[in-house]
Amino acid sequence: MSLSEFFVQPIALFSWFLSAVAALCIYLILLNRYLLLLSDGRLKTVVLRGTLVVIGAVVLLFGWWASHNPWPLLLAPTAVLIAVGIGEMQRIILRRRYRGASPIGAENAGVVLAAPITTLDLAVYHYELPVPRWRGRRLRIAHVSDLHLNGDLPEAYYSMVMARVARAEPDLLFFTGDLVTKVEHAVELPAVLTLARGRLATLAVLGNHDYWVGPQQVAAQVEAAGVTRLGDRCLRVNVEGHEVVICGYEAPWSRTDWRPPALAAHELGLVLTHTPDNIYRLTGLGFVAVFAGHYHAGQVRLPWFGPIVVPSRYGRRFDHGHFVVDGVHLFITAGVGSAVPPRRIYCQPDIFIVDIVAAKG
Ligand SMILES: [Fe+2]
Repeated sequence: MSLSEFFVQPIALFSWFLSAVAALCIYLILLNRYLLLLSDGRLKTVVLRGTLVVIGAVVLLFGWWASHNPWPLLLAPTAVLIAVGIGEMQRIILRRRYRGASPIGAENAGVVLAAPITTLDLAVYHYELPVPRWRGRRLRIAHVSDLHLNGDLPEAYYSMVMARVARAEPDLLFFTGDLVTKVEHAVELPAVLTLARGRLATLAVLGNHDYWVGPQQVAAQVEAAGVTRLGDRCLRVNVEGHEVVICGYEAPWSRTDWRPPALAAHELGLVLTHTPDNIYRLTGLGFVAVFAGHYHAGQVRLPWFGPIVVPSRYGRRFDHGHFVVDGVHLFITAGVGSAVPPRRIYCQPDIFIVDIVAAKG
């Protein structure tokens, strides 16, 4: 081996390695922002696998090419990784800017390294939200999302979840979509949803899975359970003389021309929506808080790192918890059930209890 070959080979291998890392980053970006948003089905499977195969083939080609001409070819994957690094920095800055309050209480929160499967390990987070425009009494909201009824999780688990919700004695109970994964399990909804009630109202919007499998059937079972499906409508609830306006927003799956109401200064405006991606559409309209699910907190999380994949146009910008975006409080639960795969790893399911209180001063 000549001296030049001795140096060229490690560089070629390094170029190959760099290309593989860059390709993985590109795939994860595509997965987060576009591919996971496709409707479940054969086409989605083909697209997910096809994209992986194409990217893998490009890396192999690059490796072969790099073994002949390594130096110039280091530039492409390096440029990709620099762009990914800049994107990650922007994400960290935005998360810091949008960071909301920590919960004032938590039950059963925290994963254990020795027990990675957390599918049924429900946590409960309790938030308190002081609102300057609210003059009423403490208003308790229970926020439940992503039940994903699909026959995989035991009935006893859902009974336990709903018993915990009932124990909180909420004034308002919100379900923010993905009630089922398979339409044949929609008939089980009344048995689950009737186990807890909001004293003033129990409301729901549908999520992408509900839309994909049969929105009419899911909506019919929601109504059969005595839960009001908001859809893209708004509802007014009077709390001892104080007005609360609660709107549903099922975009992008509903295709209605959503027109939010003009809110009076004394009215408390709340929104139920499935995907937190809608948040930028919901600022500047006078709403105080938005309740969403959809992300499952990633469903698979790495300890100390967080989620690998979040089905969002904004990648991992918002994953779980409380954020404040342009003055609007955004609550994102991890949800109760799980979709594909039907397991959670280092990622607890949860429900939120949010108390809205009058801000002092
Ligand atoms: Fe979901």
